[in-house]
Amino acid sequence: MKTVKLSIIGFGAVGQGVAQAILQKKDNLADMDINLVVVAISDRTGACVEPNGVDLEAAIKRKKEKGSVATTDLTSLDVIRDIDHNIVLDATPTNIEDGEPGLTYMLEAFRHGRHVVTSNKGPLALKYNMLCDEAHKGGVQFRFEATVGGAMPILNLARDALAGNMVMSIEGILNGTCNYILSRMTEESLSYKQVLGEAQELGIAETDPSYDVEGIDAACKLVILANSIFKMNVTYDDVDVTGITKITPESISLAGAEGMVIKLIGEVRDGDDAIIKVVPKLVPKNHPLAVGGTLNVALLRTDMAGPICVEGRGAGSMETASAVLSDIIAICKKEF
Ligand code: HSE
Repeated sequence: MKTVKLSIIGFGAVGQGVAQAILQKKDNLADMDINLVVVAISDRTGACVEPNGVDLEAAIKRKKEKGSVATTDLTSLDVIRDIDHNIVLDATPTNIEDGEPGLTYMLEAFRHGRHVVTSNKGPLALKYNMLCDEAHKGGVQFRFEATVGGAMPILNLARDALAGNMVMSIEGILNGTCNYILSRMTEESLSYKQVLGEAQELGIAETDPSYDVEGIDAACKLVILANSIFKMNVTYDDVDVTGITKITPESISLAGAEGMVIKLIGEVRDGDDAIIKVVPKLVPKNHPLAVGGTLNVALLRTDMAGPICVEGRGAGSMETASAVLSDIIAICKKEF
């Protein structure tokens, strides 16, 4: 059995979900010949470190009871630099201003020859090419399925299952909070402000929900798709973004009378008619993109396979952990 050592940097909903998933999937991992050992977990307050494997149940309990995972005052950077391990999971929160602290953590991991898996969109939306270059220089893998669409597989779908295809365009719903708000506005003729609180209660809205309703979160995900699948060289500033704050219950009911729904659609395509934008659009009610609730969906148009549509839960602790774990397993299979 191959032993692979992992650190978890950031122990909020995603970090705890991954710890929970590792506990639950121990036998499945063993079937794949993988002994995944979490040697350190850190949060803002410090870290717990155990070279033979952190007690994950105790770590989750400590975090829930005390608000901290720390048993030492080692920092996240100390863990990344000094603790012997193979893969760094950066599960720190998204910051679209400067990408920190995740950006520094990822760069430091690459410099120390550690593979990186992340769920953090900020650094990728701002410095995608630089991060990929540094990973390449470090001779390590950099995987980020969890940054786009939560559990919905899209990056690995395009890269692995659709390998050999040219993806010509992607259109989709990349923000579950907006989709939930628009769905509720359609059902109940309510204003977006009235249903924003409900979306926040579901625990899927960003800490600052303007990231959701102004289209910023969807734009970050689109940048990641554009750079990784289309090899474009774009950042968040290149996206033409309109959010959902100006959509009224009246406009939704007018659309409904025409057999349409309003959805916040992200769209990217390369070439002469290149486009990268997030904008509310009219979508026929029976169209594959007209999914409801908190779901995400993406329609990829490819040269050989034709249209491929995927949908799934775009957020949530276990859902995001699903994407993170798939990246960790991919690294284990390739590198160890
Ligand atoms: N706030 C995001 C959403 C979470 O609603 O989709 C996942 O990135």
